[in-house]
Amino acid sequence: MLKIQFSKTPKAADTAVVGILPGNKLTAGADSLDKGLIAAALKRQSAFTGKAGQLMVVTAPEKSKYDRFILFGTGDPAKLTALECENTGGKIAATLAATGSEKAVVFADHGKDFKIVSAADMAAHMALGAQLRTYTFDKYKEKPAEDKKKKQFSAIEFVTDAHTGASKSHKSLEGVAYGAHLARDLMNEPPNVLYPSSFAQRIAAAMKPLGVTVEILDEKKMKALGMGSALAVGQGSIRPPCMVVMRWNGLPAAKKSAPLAFVGKGVTFDTGGISIKPAASMDEMKMDMGGAAAVTGLMVALATRKAKVNVVGIVGLAENMPSDRSYRPGDIITSMAGKTIEVLNTDAEGRLVLIDALTYVQRKYKPQMVVNLATLTGAIMVALGSEYAGAFVNNDKLWTELTDASGKTGEKLWRMPLDEAYRRAMDSKIADLNNLGDASRYGGACNAAGFLERFIEDNRPWAHLDIAGMMMCRADKPTVPRGPVGFGVRLLDRLVSDHYE
Ligand code: BES
Ligand code: MN
Ligand code: ZN
Repeated sequence: MLKIQFSKTPKAADTAVVGILPGNKLTAGADSLDKGLIAAALKRQSAFTGKAGQLMVVTAPEKSKYDRFILFGTGDPAKLTALECENTGGKIAATLAATGSEKAVVFADHGKDFKIVSAADMAAHMALGAQLRTYTFDKYKEKPAEDKKKKQFSAIEFVTDAHTGASKSHKSLEGVAYGAHLARDLMNEPPNVLYPSSFAQRIAAAMKPLGVTVEILDEKKMKALGMGSALAVGQGSIRPPCMVVMRWNGLPAAKKSAPLAFVGKGVTFDTGGISIKPAASMDEMKMDMGGAAAVTGLMVALATRKAKVNVVGIVGLAENMPSDRSYRPGDIITSMAGKTIEVLNTDAEGRLVLIDALTYVQRKYKPQMVVNLATLTGAIMVALGSEYAGAFVNNDKLWTELTDASGKTGEKLWRMPLDEAYRRAMDSKIADLNNLGDASRYGGACNAAGFLERFIEDNRPWAHLDIAGMMMCRADKPTVPRGPVGFGVRLLDRLVSDHYE
């Protein structure tokens, strides 16, 4: 993780990063460097205007204590949001890494007229953005010999008068970066390394030092609980399924309050099973545990900042494999809720894992609300692409809260419909439900949501986030490098902090 410091005066660094205000006015930080050079560099081009998000690299003169200057557009400080600060911080970090910087100093001193963010939060959110962007996963790559080791970008020092406040604010944000990095690590891990039991061990190891209690429901316990639906999905694999329950109790024991529940789909590899998938890009189905990764990352974020709230996180882990022991199309299985399901397609497995987790968490914990995350359908990608996750929400208050958190974190949600017709599409002629939908094959994401909804208890506020399209980022974004996103950690951390604490 990129090391972050906040201080009043700069220490040694190879790169100085300074803000340029709209109209290319120099900030005090820019003014303190070689202002003639910077002003001349700005004059000799026309693209950079000081708009938020713009960046420009200027080579420092030989006599300078820095190798280079990076100029960033501050945008209008009065209109600056925390999210814009994160995006700017992310872009700065990417440029620093690309230019070969090891340690940089960022003068976060632009303006005194912030209206939306404070000077302290501005610097803290820039730092968070930088940490989110500088994620790498190279544990399976050959290590370069010591003498050939390239310089590694490893630290940013933010210089601001508000350094004490910034440091405090960043402390409560940094858990989000840890959580997102963990979620991405889990998604990057290959499926021969990360499978249900090893995933469970990774969760236990991550949670222990944070004071999150972990309970692993192994195959035996799942059988005893009657989780016939989740068990069916995992039965074709030599690696048995399991569920992991994480509990964070941030409220004093005297304060009785129903917990929040977060449920994640954790299919560690989805071949489709007997209804096998085509070969192209099947490797990406190692990330079919993105929902479980997000729930795990969220628990890390909440526990790191000691969130004053009671939360239960549960992930349903299974590997969907074809074998002589696999569940088949045509099988009728019995869910924990007691409803029978006719399996029409073994590739519609995520919903089967989720419903037993949903039933378990509702019965055992009576949560005040439930949010589940799942890379559930290809159909949601047909509808929304990779820009928005689909949100199926049965409660307008919860939707309003989610919209608010979404706007503040940039993890976009689009509300999708729940409807009796979709629920009915999941009826079966010979069992209570089928797992595929009606014959039309259209509206697959809505039918899947309708299937889940049939396992939600009356009056239970619930949101199902279909994050299939958000699994992978295919081109760098300001705070997300190409690769697994860890979508949901930032969003749900914000949902909790702004609406449930
Ligand atoms: N894990 C997939 C959905 C998915 C596809 C996620 C692509 C990310 C990228 C899910 O288990 C699945 O296979 N869904 C089927 C459902 C169908 C058989 C009803 C689908 O979407 O095709
Ligand atoms: Mn599938
Ligand atoms: Zn799947």
